[in-house]
Amino acid sequence: MLEVSEVTRAVTLPDGSELSILRGVNLRVFAGERVAILGRSGAGKTTLLNLLGLIDRPTSGSIRFRGQDAAALSEARLAKLRGASVGFVFQQFNLLENRTAHANVVMPLLYGSPKQFWQRERLALEALRAVELADRADQLPRQLSGGEQQRVAIARALVRQPALLLADEPTGALDVGTGQLVMRLLARMSAETGSALVTITHDLFVAATAERILLLQDGVLRECTLDEAEQALRADAREREATELRDRV
Ligand SMILES: Nc1ncnc2c1ncn2[C@@H]1O[C@H](COP(=O)(O)OP(=O)(O)OP(=O)(O)O)[C@@H](O)[C@H]1O
Ligand SMILES: [Mg+2]
Repeated sequence: MLEVSEVTRAVTLPDGSELSILRGVNLRVFAGERVAILGRSGAGKTTLLNLLGLIDRPTSGSIRFRGQDAAALSEARLAKLRGASVGFVFQQFNLLENRTAHANVVMPLLYGSPKQFWQRERLALEALRAVELADRADQLPRQLSGGEQQRVAIARALVRQPALLLADEPTGALDVGTGQLVMRLLARMSAETGSALVTITHDLFVAATAERILLLQDGVLRECTLDEAEQALRADAREREATELRDRV
C-alpha cells in the first residue's frame, strides 16, 4: 500500500548549511498492518511521518502510495489523496478548542466525497460511537479528559476511513494506563477498518502492540526485535544522562 524507497530529507539551516535528517529510508507498509517506529528524540521520526503522510516531499527517493508515485502529483492532487487516504493522530490531540467533539469529527468530512459531506452528521456520530464517546458529542475538548480528547482525535482521524493511520507519539501526553487504552483502541480500529497503522513512539510498551518494529537511527530505518529496540532506547537514555551530567559540571 505504501512503498518508500531510498528516501532522504535534508533541510537548509539559517546559516546556510545543510542538515541531513533522513539518509536513505526504505519501508513497505501493507494494508491493515500495524508498524511501530522507534527512535531517540531528534532522530527524524516526525520528519519521516510527514513524508509518509504526504505532507512534505522527500529531497530524493520515491514514495508510492496505493500505486501512485507521490512525486508525480501536483500539490492539489496530493492534498486530495492525503485527505481521502491518511488520518493523523498527534501527541497533543490538536482538536479545535471552541468546537464540540462532534464538530471536530465532522471537520474532515467537509472536504470529503459528496456522500461523506451529506452524511457528515451521522458519520461523525458513528465515529464517536466507535470510540465510545457518543454521549460526549456536544462537549468541548476542555470538558474532556486527555484520554477522551485523544479518542475524539482518533474518531476524527478515522471518519473518512483512511487506508493509512499515522500516529505521532499518541500516548505521549497521557498517563501509562490511559496510553495503553488508547493503543488498544487504535489497534482495534485498525483491525476493524483495515487501515494500516504506523505509530511513532519512544515507548517500548507502545511498540510492543505493533506487529513489526522499526528503529530509526542515523537517518536510516531498520527492522528490529523488541529486545533490540529496548537496548537501543537504553543506550540512548544512558548517553543522554551522560551528556546532562557533563553539561552540569
Ligand atoms: N524544518 C527544519 N529546519 C531545521 N531543522 C529541522 C527541521 N525539521 C526538523 N529539523 C531537525 O531535524 C531533526 C529531526 O527532527 P524530528 O522532529 O523529525 O525528530 P523526532 O525524531 O520527531 O524527535 P522527537 O522525538 O523529539 O519528536 C531535529 O534535530 C530537528 O531539529
Ligand atoms: Mg517528533
